[in-house]
Amino acid sequence: MISGIIPRPIGFVSTLSEKNEHNLAPFSWFNMISHNPPTVMISCTHSGRPRDTTLNIKATKEFTANIISEPFVNLANFTSVDAPPGHSEWSGSGLTMAPSISVKPPRVKESAFSVECELYHFLELSPPGSQEVTQAVIIGLVKKIHVRNDVLNEKGTIDPAVFRPVSRLGDISFARLGDAFRIPRDQWTKVGEEILEAETKKEH
Ligand SMILES: Cc1cc2nc3c(=O)[nH]c(=O)nc-3n(C[C@H](O)[C@H](O)[C@H](O)COP(=O)(O)O)c2cc1C
Repeated sequence: MISGIIPRPIGFVSTLSEKNEHNLAPFSWFNMISHNPPTVMISCTHSGRPRDTTLNIKATKEFTANIISEPFVNLANFTSVDAPPGHSEWSGSGLTMAPSISVKPPRVKESAFSVECELYHFLELSPPGSQEVTQAVIIGLVKKIHVRNDVLNEKGTIDPAVFRPVSRLGDISFARLGDAFRIPRDQWTKVGEEILEAETKKEH
C-alpha cells in the first residue's frame, strides 16, 4: 500500500507538549478531507509507543500542518529523526519558527502554505480482534490558513510551479511535481444524449 498509494502529500506537523516542548515531524498519511467544515487528517503509527506528535495533540489539542517545498526537503526530512521525547527537532533542522494566530504551536516559516488546526476528532485503530492500539487518526479543524504571496497567481490560487511541493512515494523516496495538465469535466446536459445514443446502438 505504501508504494502503491502514491504520490502522497506530506503534512509537516508542528506541536507543543504539555510542558511547552516543541516538536516537528513529517506525515505522509495526510490530506485535506473536507472543506465544510475545513478539515485535514494525519495518521500516526504507534511503533512501540505513540509518536510524540500523537501525544502532544492528544494533550494540547492543537497543531499546525505545513507543506514542504523542494528547496527545504532535506531540512524537513531531518526532522523525522527518532529524537527522544522532549528533544526538539527544530534546532538541528535549521528551519525557522513563525508565530501562529489561533493556536500555540508555531508554523514553519519556510513553508509557503500552512494551516493552523484545533483537534476535531481523535480515533484510535487496532487490528481486528486485538485491543492493542497501533494507529491514531487525527482530524484537525482548520482555524487559519497562511499562504505566501509569491506562490499566488493572478486568479488568487496557488501556482504549483512556484510552490514546488514534494510528495512521498514508497520506501524513502520523494517526488517532485511533473507537468500539470487540464481536463474539463463533461456535463450530462451536453454529452448525455450522445452517450445514450451510442449505448442504444451497441445494444442492437
Ligand atoms: C516523508 C515522511 C513521511 C512520514 N509519514 C509518516 C506518517 O504518515 N505516519 C507516521 O506515523 N510516521 C510517518 N513518518 C515517520 C515520522 O515522521 C517519524 O517517526 C518521526 O520521528 C515522528 O516524530 P514524533 O515522534 O516527534 O512525532 C514519516 C517520515 C517521513 C520522512
